[in-house]
Amino acid sequence: MTISYGRGSRAALALLALLALAVVQAHAEDGYDLWLRYHPIADETLRAHYKEAASEIVAAIPAPSEAPAASVGTAAAPHATLARRPGTSRLASAVPAVAAMPPVAAMPVAATMPAAAAMPAVAKMPTAGAAPMLNSPGPSTLAVARAELVRGLSGLLATAEPVSDKPSRNGSVVIGTPKSSPVIAKLNLPLAKAGAEGYLIRSASYEGHHVTVIAANSDVGVLYGTFHFLRLIQTQQPIDTLDITEAPRIQHRMLDHWDNLDRSVERGYAGQSIWDWQKLPDYLDPRYTDYARACASLGINGTVPTNVNASPIGLTESYLRKYAALAKVFRPYGVRVYLTARFSAPIEIGGLKTADPLDPAVKAWWKAKTDEIYSLIPDFGGFVVKANSEGQPGPQDYHRTHADGANMLAEVVAPHGGIIMWRAFVYSQDQPDDRAKQAYSEFVPLDGQFRQNVILQVKNGPIDFQPREPFSPLFGATPHTPLMLEVQITKEYLGFATHLVYLGPLFEETLRSDTYARGKGSTVAKVIDGSLFGYATTGMAGVANIGSDRDWSGSIFDQANWYAFGRLAWNPLASSRDIANEWVKMTFTSDPPFVEPVVNMMMGSREAAVNYMTPLGLHHQMARTSHYGPGPWVTGGSRADWTSTYFNRADAQGIGFDRTATGSNAVAQYAKPVAAEFGDLKRVPDEYLLWFHHVPWDYKMRSGHTLWDELVTHYSAGVQTVAGMRKTWAGLSAYVDPERFEQVSAFLNIQEKEAKWWRDASIAYFETFSKRPLPDHEAPPAHDLKYYESLCYPYAPGGAPRPKAKCE
Ligand code: GCU
Repeated sequence: MTISYGRGSRAALALLALLALAVVQAHAEDGYDLWLRYHPIADETLRAHYKEAASEIVAAIPAPSEAPAASVGTAAAPHATLARRPGTSRLASAVPAVAAMPPVAAMPVAATMPAAAAMPAVAKMPTAGAAPMLNSPGPSTLAVARAELVRGLSGLLATAEPVSDKPSRNGSVVIGTPKSSPVIAKLNLPLAKAGAEGYLIRSASYEGHHVTVIAANSDVGVLYGTFHFLRLIQTQQPIDTLDITEAPRIQHRMLDHWDNLDRSVERGYAGQSIWDWQKLPDYLDPRYTDYARACASLGINGTVPTNVNASPIGLTESYLRKYAALAKVFRPYGVRVYLTARFSAPIEIGGLKTADPLDPAVKAWWKAKTDEIYSLIPDFGGFVVKANSEGQPGPQDYHRTHADGANMLAEVVAPHGGIIMWRAFVYSQDQPDDRAKQAYSEFVPLDGQFRQNVILQVKNGPIDFQPREPFSPLFGATPHTPLMLEVQITKEYLGFATHLVYLGPLFEETLRSDTYARGKGSTVAKVIDGSLFGYATTGMAGVANIGSDRDWSGSIFDQANWYAFGRLAWNPLASSRDIANEWVKMTFTSDPPFVEPVVNMMMGSREAAVNYMTPLGLHHQMARTSHYGPGPWVTGGSRADWTSTYFNRADAQGIGFDRTATGSNAVAQYAKPVAAEFGDLKRVPDEYLLWFHHVPWDYKMRSGHTLWDELVTHYSAGVQTVAGMRKTWAGLSAYVDPERFEQVSAFLNIQEKEAKWWRDASIAYFETFSKRPLPDHEAPPAHDLKYYESLCYPYAPGGAPRPKAKCE
């Protein structure tokens, strides 16, 4: 089909749009669109109201980026997008005529495109934005913001609002900075509070018109504000009299991918890595654009594409070019690239004899490598380093400290404005008395010795992303060294992708924990947002749960964990319930009979997992290596502190790890009021009982039950909660498309089966010590202990391919 310009082309566009709409409607949803679905508001009155309040888009885009900008989501763009998406979209192949369209740049500028009104299908398209062509400059951030607004409004309101260069009616939505937009400049808005990345959304009056402005000091602030504005409509909030000022409380809001160069993902449960290294940099999968767009919708502004267990090859030139290509796709969305650095790279790829951080040749090598990176990625963010941890090389190999290592790297990135995120997840090879004490013991003596552009990256708890841990005692213990929080979004220890476990409450629990470092109210949130000690650098990192699966995260509900991480990194004081509420509305529907039970189900899901896996402060009871399923009997092997028996310490007397003064005395690492509470058997919260104390089986709990009865009751409660979640979901089919509904139903069945497995296996093991009967009405385990011990899953997902996989 040849398309001519003018009226004929408009008719053809409309026809194609209808065609595309029909094709889209023929498919169920597969989760690819995440929370950015922009489906039309079902309630027509409400929709009409929003249409009045958002009747026109005013976005001045500086001229040079106009042409490429049009390739991302303006009314005409999705067709161009589809034409460039070989193999990624069902739609791409279903609309063959599209490929014959004229190049987007040659189309009339979207500003007054009359055909747009006839194109309600726009927002129904898959989320994929256009992958920028390799040699094109790529769209500007403002162009991306405008495209998002066009796409969002046209979807939610089922019509395309006109795009204009100045407000011409009531209901104009004006986006921009004082620099880019004469309208915003004229309004003289109080933008100081928005800072470098924040924004202001305001109802205002402009030349007699009632308008809404989305204004910021920076282009990325405009983009964030645009997402916020669309979210208000998606979640059906009023938008008539807005006065919102938002700024992120954390500077570095990072997604850390544990992706390997062979595309396996360490602890990943959503398929392969999304980074197709072999085809990069020449082929830019449109998914990269969608990834950046999803990140930007949450305010995530940094990504580490490679594993902390880093390959030195990842720092060779050919890979740097691949990251540079990714960086180019991410740049308009405000997402900067950082890299993991293997400490011994100067030896492995630099030909040096040593990686000693104080050796001038080593430093020169890192300087040259860093300069090379910046020549390819001018806005490169810096390095993330896992050193002297779990066998990774580091400065201690040369009798240097973590500060020596971090500072050497910090010095070479400093002239470029880069930072070093130095991980505090370390524990010594020589296995001291308590692994939980290691990070604190290593780093507190070094407080104040790090260069200004170093930030220590600390896991939420002192062990390793367990279903529940007390906060790490490092938080609050380094007034002179900035700390950032690292949480795990991927569910290594929480049932992989198939268990519905909303992590918002876990993240929130850590953030709200009171360290008492400067008296009451010294929460972890205040440590990491810099307000407690005046840190100059602040950050929060989440270990990503993203992979090549169509739904990105391996399950629909795991998308909520990516979402919650992003929202909390922007504002660590936010409520996980509010976030769940928002996510449910955006991902499914705003219907209250759906939203309420689903939010409740999500909010209870983490406690359920704690109950059926590791109740009352137990931890690290998973199967060895894969961490799939229960393994409380795991013992022996190369390191005691990689076994379950090391952590549960079950014996004839009782169970639990004595971390009080009579044991490892890890409690002493906390501020006095916290140590006093955790260290006292009478005061310690039940949640942390067995984390800090070895407790007799017949110990009388607050509930009046013995410890043994209480433990069994918790395991069973976990299973019951999951059974309840399954029933709740079963009653909600009317609100969800069949494809997503079925996936969630099937996964809840798996979860219930595995929750029972956890309960039964744990009880079967611990009763060999407690030698007590089960409480009344408690069913005995379905099988004997031998059966559970014999279960073996050497190919459980989440690791690099294991040619010598064995049952352990
Ligand atoms: C856990 C996880 C590892 C990972 C490590 C880390 O131990 O099992 O796969 O490498 O954390 O955070 O470095």
